[in-house]
Amino acid sequence: MNIRAGRLDDDAILAAIDHASWSPLSDPSEHWSIERPFFGPPTGTRPQDVLVAEVGPDLVGVIKIVPATTEFGDWCINGLAVAAAFGGRGVGTALIRAACAKAGAAGGAQVWLKVLDSNARAVRLYECLGFVEVARFTSPFENRPGVDDLRMAADLPLESG
Ligand SMILES: CC(C)(COP(=O)(O)OP(=O)(O)OC[C@H]1O[C@@H](n2cnc3c(N)ncnc32)[C@H](O)[C@@H]1OP(=O)(O)O)[C@@H](O)C(=O)NCCC(=O)NCCS
Repeated sequence: MNIRAGRLDDDAILAAIDHASWSPLSDPSEHWSIERPFFGPPTGTRPQDVLVAEVGPDLVGVIKIVPATTEFGDWCINGLAVAAAFGGRGVGTALIRAACAKAGAAGGAQVWLKVLDSNARAVRLYECLGFVEVARFTSPFENRPGVDDLRMAADLPLESG
């Protein structure tokens, strides 16, 4: 597996991975159009904000990490998706580790993120990497009754796995 910085010409494949990764269990908003570009004004995502994972010739995953200071930390992971065909092989783990290393190298002290408690696979993955729940907003979404909106955070550097 190779992790590298995102490029504008990754747009179409990243948009497809992002679109396919949507689930009501993981996203409180409605499903976006397959036509939505990954980079640019609709998403506010820039190539320099993302790292991508390649397995052989295939681009298989993406993570977005940006400086964002709140009470939870100073860098934020606000996008993570792995192509389903490449799930369970450690791609998500490698992307989170690389993103946290990037934040740490830039002087970051703590990375935080949002995750729904219905997204059990993601929550478990973050916990395995040392993230802990730092806030819970109980059932805040009308269209996702019973689902809590969590904030999780980890101190940098992550513990080595
Ligand atoms: C959540 C998500 C990013 C996980 O990506 P992934 O690449 O499957 O993650 P990993 O492979 O690193 O870890 C997932 C599981 O595979 C296991 N695993 C890791 N490396 C492995 C390997 N080499 N071989 C087999 N299994 C492995 C992990 O232990 C973990 O097991 P668990 O689910 O029982 O805890 C992916 O499922 C996804 O894109 N989901 C939809 C979007 C989403 O929910 N994003 C997060 C929003 S907050």
